Amino acid sequence: MNQPIPMIIDTDPGIDDAMAILYALSDPAVDLVGLTTVFGNVPVTTATRNTLALLELAGVDIPVAAGAARPMVQEPHPHPDFVHGVEGFGEAHLPPPARKTDPRPAHEFIIDMVRARPGEITLVPVGPLTNIAMALKAAPDIAEKVARVVVMGGAVRCKGNVNEYAEANIWQDPHAAQAVLSADWPLTLVGLDITERIVCTAADLAPMMQRSPICGAFLTKAAEFYFAFHKETEGIDGCHLHDPTAVIAALDMAPFGVETAPLTVTLEGEAIGRTREGERGAPVGICLSADADAVLARFRDRLASGRLP
Ligand code: BDR
Ligand code: CA
Repeated sequence: MNQPIPMIIDTDPGIDDAMAILYALSDPAVDLVGLTTVFGNVPVTTATRNTLALLELAGVDIPVAAGAARPMVQEPHPHPDFVHGVEGFGEAHLPPPARKTDPRPAHEFIIDMVRARPGEITLVPVGPLTNIAMALKAAPDIAEKVARVVVMGGAVRCKGNVNEYAEANIWQDPHAAQAVLSADWPLTLVGLDITERIVCTAADLAPMMQRSPICGAFLTKAAEFYFAFHKETEGIDGCHLHDPTAVIAALDMAPFGVETAPLTVTLEGEAIGRTREGERGAPVGICLSADADAVLARFRDRLASGRLP
């Protein structure tokens, strides 16, 4: 097997964030070197607590660095408790974590890790892009030192999910998104163009219960709330596989169809947060098609492989 990919997931857990983190811990192709947290689905204090609690549930001890509490420029939007629940994991509640965070703020942790291992670290931001933009602003040299940046966010040739135009992670901090998506670094965008075409159902989580009953029971319970939201708003049985798909794209691009173009984020008006293809600027790999069955099978099978308790 190839060497596992050293990865930092920047996250706002969040039910599909929990799916992405547990997936990453299940896949031997990932070397999860740290997690950084950001406001978004929940306040950053809750995102940090949830991240620590999830790692304790999984019996894994890796650094967690707490990050931004609000967007760079605009006023914060309300947290979407109707999507992920007030505490972020629907009706699944984990005990308060005993472990503490890394002393560094998220963006400093990211800078230190990328500089310490030039050319090695893949960043996978699956929340608002505030920490990543702050890291880039404070240390522009990381642009040439990351291996890849694989962003879950955006809606390029499809409609948004917070409104007609914008996807939630970009809409929560469009100014940060503009800085991150226009930077000259090896970036892949995993947006609603593909994540809404990959539907995870209760049957996809069920096999995990056999060999990982503790994490399986948690994820099954948390997912009920997310499934109910999707049922009500989209009429589907299951949920879109947003954040885990970005982790999978960070490991293997074979299931994805990509076009390359510069991107611009709309920064004002009713379409604020929209991700548009442009003609000028650094090119970005935009995922526009996916082998949904292959992505879902990898997600389901790794989670069920028994690596987690
Ligand atoms: C993104 O927004 C959040 O609700 C999810 O966790 C995901 O990162 C999907 O638009
Ligand atoms: Ca997320």
